Amino acid sequence: MIEHDVADLKLAKSGRTRIEWAGKFMPVLANICERFGRNKPLRGVRMSCCLHVTSETANLVTTLKAAGASVRLCASNPLSTQDDVAAALVRDHGIPVFAIKGENRRQYYQHIYAALAHRPEITTDDGADLVSTLHSKKRNLIPDVIGGTEETTTGVVRLRSMEKDRVLAYPIIAVNDSQTKFMFDNRYGTGQSALDGILRATNWLFAGSTVVVCGYGWCGRGVAARAKGLGAEIIVTEVNPVRALEAKMDGFRVMRLMDACRSGDVFITVTGDINVIDRRHMLGMKDRAIICNAGHFDAEINKKALDEITRSKRTLRRFCVEHKLKNGRCLIMLAEGRLVNLAAAEGHPAMVMDMSFANQALAAEYLVRHRGKLENKVYKLPEALDQQIARLKLGTMGIRIDRLTPEQAAYISSWRLGT
Ligand code: ADE
Repeated sequence: MIEHDVADLKLAKSGRTRIEWAGKFMPVLANICERFGRNKPLRGVRMSCCLHVTSETANLVTTLKAAGASVRLCASNPLSTQDDVAAALVRDHGIPVFAIKGENRRQYYQHIYAALAHRPEITTDDGADLVSTLHSKKRNLIPDVIGGTEETTTGVVRLRSMEKDRVLAYPIIAVNDSQTKFMFDNRYGTGQSALDGILRATNWLFAGSTVVVCGYGWCGRGVAARAKGLGAEIIVTEVNPVRALEAKMDGFRVMRLMDACRSGDVFITVTGDINVIDRRHMLGMKDRAIICNAGHFDAEINKKALDEITRSKRTLRRFCVEHKLKNGRCLIMLAEGRLVNLAAAEGHPAMVMDMSFANQALAAEYLVRHRGKLENKVYKLPEALDQQIARLKLGTMGIRIDRLTPEQAAYISSWRLGT
């Protein structure tokens, strides 16, 4: 048996059907997989992937394997692993997986080290923990690395800061920055799956309640739109004046979080920053307010402060913990402040991960094709590939669109013609 560390290989049967189910809704990735299977663009390439271990990710890593890559997978979050999927990847697909739902911090990093023991030529990351561990603790691996890909906004922000500090030691493709990724995965994926996580953890009725969305980036926009669709009144909090204005003109109330505390029934953080919901906010919230996070790290809610103001706590339901505060009120914290959509639900649906992971697959191919030609910088995938993914997705949805006539193409690229 190949090397692995998963919860229970006996779960593989259920994992296998789940992987198949997700695959049915990932036709763009399937199209790429078919070509990869024929042409083997990643033949012999060692890849270490640090991703949420889900049925959608399983379809990505099997695509990379079909392309000829030798892949190892570890989790990019201690709570997001689907244990049955991890088991099926090991038992049915022969892919070494190191991920267990609920693993502690020590195990989480042990698993990252196990993935790095593969001596990757490509790193595929979601949040940049793999890349930062490689750069800080395993620098001996750097000479072998062709490049890396990064899935999420938080990871891209970290990698850009590494580039700025001139410590980034190899090129990265910011998959997150493709239009076919952030406009769909971040907005419609997070919008739906964050509410899915809250619903599964609480069975909450959104209609008639007040939802406070902290952050109005692509994820916040999606969460606010979907919560509104379920009948909630939305309050948006922002630090960026342009985004705050956009939220206002999208029809939402906008105010400081401190002012929103007293009205909110559900608080959702999607900012990528630290201590967004802090002690003073939690002390100001009404009795039985729900707090949760859909940003990458569990840093957005000040958990230490919450514990300090808590008199006692008890688990009410799975991923749903009631904190009795010293001020006499209760707060309900979901999924330990970790990604509520992946911890309490299943993450984004396959239909949207199809495009995100099509970008990942094409980014890996691009890195191999451009081996040695890229600088140690964060790049976007070329727009032509982004457009190709959109065209493929439209095709699988049975949608045909118009093309510019030669006359229109000439007109739109010329400055000569005006009124
Ligand atoms: N990120 C958000 N949803 C995901 C999913 N279903 N699989 C992998 N990564 C994700």
